[in-house]
Amino acid sequence: MSDQAEQLRERMQRTNQPRPTKLVTVTSGKGGVGKSNFSLNFGLGLIEKGHKTILFDVDLGLANLDVLMGISPKKHLFHLLEPDTSVWDILEQGPGDLEFIAGGSGFTQIMQLEDSKLDRLFNQLQPLHGYADTIIFDTGAGLSKESIRFMLSSDEVILVTTPEPPAITDAYAVIKMLHSRNPDIKIRLVINRVTSEREGKMTSDKLAMVAKRFLNMDIHSLGYVSDDPYVSKAVKQQRPFLLTYPESQASRSIRRLVGQYLQSSTEAEAHPSGLKGFIAKLKHFIR
Ligand SMILES: Nc1ncnc2c1ncn2[C@@H]1O[C@H](COP(=O)(O)OP(=O)(O)OP(=O)(O)O)[C@@H](O)[C@H]1O
Ligand SMILES: [Mg+2]
Repeated sequence: MSDQAEQLRERMQRTNQPRPTKLVTVTSGKGGVGKSNFSLNFGLGLIEKGHKTILFDVDLGLANLDVLMGISPKKHLFHLLEPDTSVWDILEQGPGDLEFIAGGSGFTQIMQLEDSKLDRLFNQLQPLHGYADTIIFDTGAGLSKESIRFMLSSDEVILVTTPEPPAITDAYAVIKMLHSRNPDIKIRLVINRVTSEREGKMTSDKLAMVAKRFLNMDIHSLGYVSDDPYVSKAVKQQRPFLLTYPESQASRSIRRLVGQYLQSSTEAEAHPSGLKGFIAKLKHFIR
């Protein structure tokens, strides 16, 4: 049997025994705080722990996860609208067993698709349900309509910020907006580029306190990632730091954070609404 046929058979077997797939959206208020690097290396950290993970680039127009991984995707989401193209054709193999779907630069088009095409696109994604344990959406910065819809439709939102005041202020704006749309939304904080654990804790405590006081909302911290020159080195080499510099501070933080993530059990983790739930919600928001 050819490699490709073998892979397809394995995929079919996996999808015949669906287990819930968790949908996680990674976002931030301010741009450039490290969402894409976090999404990529967090995804790889989950894989190291045996969780099958797909990374989905939904950054509008400025998608660059492929550049971080040093791959050139041949197909993207919109190819699903072409006849004879299935979701397996648009899944790209990334580094370290990570699979990847490129959103394509015209991601905003999704909002303008006529109903039949939107249905086709979403139906084509259904086979991923049960195939992956986790699908991570890496969004662009800020509060675009599309990112907000992804966040509101996911099982969980991971909000990345740095300890710098403008990033914290913008992160709070995201929390406030999401809370106004869904007071029960699950948001977890990642403080990136910390110089000490204390700085990370102070930053997440500050945000959690403000959210509690003004919104009566509980926000939990997922952890911190060290400010580490090896991140930039890895970016320049177009390789994930977790694979290229596994002993760096940033890699150690990611592993610690993945451990905490898998240990902690939020309601969304216990009962993910899965890809079906996600698609139903996203359709609702689009229409
Ligand atoms: N933990 C870190 N330590 C040191 N530098 C970092 C760290 N995380 C990110 N950076 C730096 O920040 C840059 C931007 O990171 P990244 O592209 O992941 O941000 P982003 O939030 O996805 O940006 P955008 O908003 O444009 O999508 C990286 O190229 C790297 O140089
Ligand atoms: Mg990015």
